[in-house]
Amino acid sequence: MSESKPIVIAIDGPSASGKSTNARIISAKLGCIYVDTGAMYRTLAWYALSMGIDVTDMAAVEALCRDWPSKLVRRENNVWLEVDGYFPEKEIRSSEVSKAVSYVAQAPYVREWMKEHQRSCVDFGDLVMEGRDITSNIFPETPHKFYLDASAGERQARRDADGIEEDLAARDQRDSTRKAAPLVVVEGATVINNSGESPEETSARIIALVEAQRQA
Ligand code: CDP
Repeated sequence: MSESKPIVIAIDGPSASGKSTNARIISAKLGCIYVDTGAMYRTLAWYALSMGIDVTDMAAVEALCRDWPSKLVRRENNVWLEVDGYFPEKEIRSSEVSKAVSYVAQAPYVREWMKEHQRSCVDFGDLVMEGRDITSNIFPETPHKFYLDASAGERQARRDADGIEEDLAARDQRDSTRKAAPLVVVEGATVINNSGESPEETSARIIALVEAQRQA
């Protein structure tokens, strides 16, 4: 799937709405690069915690972000942030990082930094990028915009099944009410509620819509 201008499939939605699972399936099927932008925020939150920074202190988080030793790296069809050459893959899924991440994500300078780096991912090729502000703020120009959702009960059950203890409602509330690039449904996004649906079904619906949009 490639043409002169890179294709960007943008997927937003609240926690455990199936973004990562579907983005992974879609990117593999279409031969695109998968970018989990939540992992980028989680990597910064992990780094802040490991440096002993109070993540609710926005000025301290912004100062850290200004010159942290990180770099975007492509491995196979994934792009992620490495810190000092290390990708903290398991560490960024801990309860501590999950609790800290939405504070880090509120900082305006952090969001600018992420936007610049996330937009630069098109240099790697066609993208499936998922997060909270991809349709609204990172790639508002893409015609392929999706907002995934599922019932609050089903989302909490999915996260509990991952074995991670977390109050998703509190994080979703912070993500939807913050000043900088909150989670919203933008005009032109296709809203897909995937409660009770398998990832194979949801991803097939998204791929069919992308194909129809490309032919339109
Ligand atoms: O996996 P889950 O959906 O729970 O979260 P995630 O995608 O790993 O994102 C973790 C957190 O990063 C979110 O709760 C947001 O606070 C922040 N985030 C953001 O602000 N903007 C994005 N584009 C992606 C994530």
